[in-house]
Amino acid sequence: MDPTLVRVLYVASEVAGFAKTGGLADVAAALPRALAERGLDIAVALPLYRCIRNGAEPLEATGLSYRVHIGNREVTGGIVRSQLPGTKIPVFLIEQPDYFERDDPIQGAGLYHFTRPDGVTTDYTDNALRFGFFCRAVLEALPLLDFWPEVIHLNDWQTGLIPVYMREIYTRHPLGEFKTEYSRIRTLCTVHNLAYQGAFPADNVPLLGLPWKLFNFEELEFYGHVNFLKAGLVFSDLLTTVSPTYAREIQTPYFGCGLHGVLLHRSAQLTGIVNGADYRIWCPANDPFLKMRYDESNVAEGKATAKADLQKSLELDVEPQVPLLGMVSRLADQKGLDLVNRAAAWLLQGGLQFAVLGQGDLRYHRMLTELRRGHPRQVGIHLMQDERLAHLIEAGADMFLMPSLYEPCGLSQLYSLKYGTVPVVRATGGLVDTVVDATEVHLAAGTATGFAFVPYTAEAFLGAIKRAVTMFRDRPEQWRSLQRTGMQQDWSWNRSAAAYERLYRAMVGAI
Ligand code: ADP
Ligand code: GLC
Repeated sequence: MDPTLVRVLYVASEVAGFAKTGGLADVAAALPRALAERGLDIAVALPLYRCIRNGAEPLEATGLSYRVHIGNREVTGGIVRSQLPGTKIPVFLIEQPDYFERDDPIQGAGLYHFTRPDGVTTDYTDNALRFGFFCRAVLEALPLLDFWPEVIHLNDWQTGLIPVYMREIYTRHPLGEFKTEYSRIRTLCTVHNLAYQGAFPADNVPLLGLPWKLFNFEELEFYGHVNFLKAGLVFSDLLTTVSPTYAREIQTPYFGCGLHGVLLHRSAQLTGIVNGADYRIWCPANDPFLKMRYDESNVAEGKATAKADLQKSLELDVEPQVPLLGMVSRLADQKGLDLVNRAAAWLLQGGLQFAVLGQGDLRYHRMLTELRRGHPRQVGIHLMQDERLAHLIEAGADMFLMPSLYEPCGLSQLYSLKYGTVPVVRATGGLVDTVVDATEVHLAAGTATGFAFVPYTAEAFLGAIKRAVTMFRDRPEQWRSLQRTGMQQDWSWNRSAAAYERLYRAMVGAI
């Protein structure tokens, strides 16, 4: 084996092409690929959900199985193999039908929660055991597959117990068969969103097979609960999050979601690395969902075609001149939908159009349905997952709205930059690091790519939209140059992958 080759197991609860609820899945599909292209030896692990069992990717049984004691019983699991679509990168799917094969969108059953008939969304009550099992299973799989990574790359709370089990069980195994192999593994934990922590009642501690001695405020305990993300933050060798600004923000009480103390304590091990965009999937020059593909040379025509297509798809008036504001988002508090609601009256009075694709909290479904009912020719909504429409909005809207309360990185603004769709964003987290506000100074320097606002108020949001609309209507040349600057930017994954590679190498001493 090449001594400089670093071997990594990338573990995530969702991976695009297999299962997706948000940006984590996009990252978990694209980053391993970019790392493999840099020559790293990488494999991916995720649970085998029902949507994967019934999905398009070929699955291969391994016949391997293992048993772990969890939830006061022995639970048997398997391993199914696949590959990242279009690559040779191995994907290890953790098979446990009771835990993972219950998702069914028709019945309102998702990967992590289900929606009751009254529209209320509730987490599965056994999520601690489901993802505790997942963490154990990943570690059980290594000797069975004879795949020994030097680094396990964890993502979010669902993977947070891996370094805990490694320390408490696998490097202390009484028989110690693979003790040496497990002891060599280093762990890196990436936080994609600090607000989702996987905090569960304390009685889960023994059910997860963990000793009570770890249930203290410096390790697993968090306000009387066992906290999976805190476990990842405390027990991993290195920590990253998905933008430098968010890395700084989460060390403050306002953004820290109660974990800022832990993050401050581990500040020296915490790095912010901006996500990339996968231009194989998100690029107007080769987007199969578009009627007309386009790049900088024919952006006006390409966007006009996409806009008309979008307006027709959402039954809006087909008006080339009317500014069309787009949004593709999980409908969660994080995404600034209350600002959208407060700004809507002005936007609609002003004759603008609004296209929203999203799924999430019932109250936002109601809010958007209400807006559509009042202004059917101006407001187009689609409240479900729809890959095609996501691409159509990225291409067909004039502006892309992300008024987020907080935003660890955000991917949609990276996509809209490439599509010549000018982002209007709140200056927080990754949005600060990726969108340059069209101030006089930035316009003069030719660096402006969008519009940003700071205070989390409807007035500030409207102010940014008004600036954008004024430029769109009155200064088309300047608008074109803003689009061009955005389209020319390179947010491809290679740059971020190089940063992750440096961290892996530093951890395993292979620099
Ligand atoms: P987050 O991960 O917080 O949801 P990101 O901007 O990082 O936000 O990533 C969102 C991803 O999810 C993008 O790829 C976006 O296109 C996609 N997305 C969000 N909602 C939908 C939806 N209803 N249908 C299809 N794709 C969606
Ligand atoms: C999270 C964040 C989003 C980020 C994504 C991928 O879902 O909310 O900002 O882009 O993870 O890292």
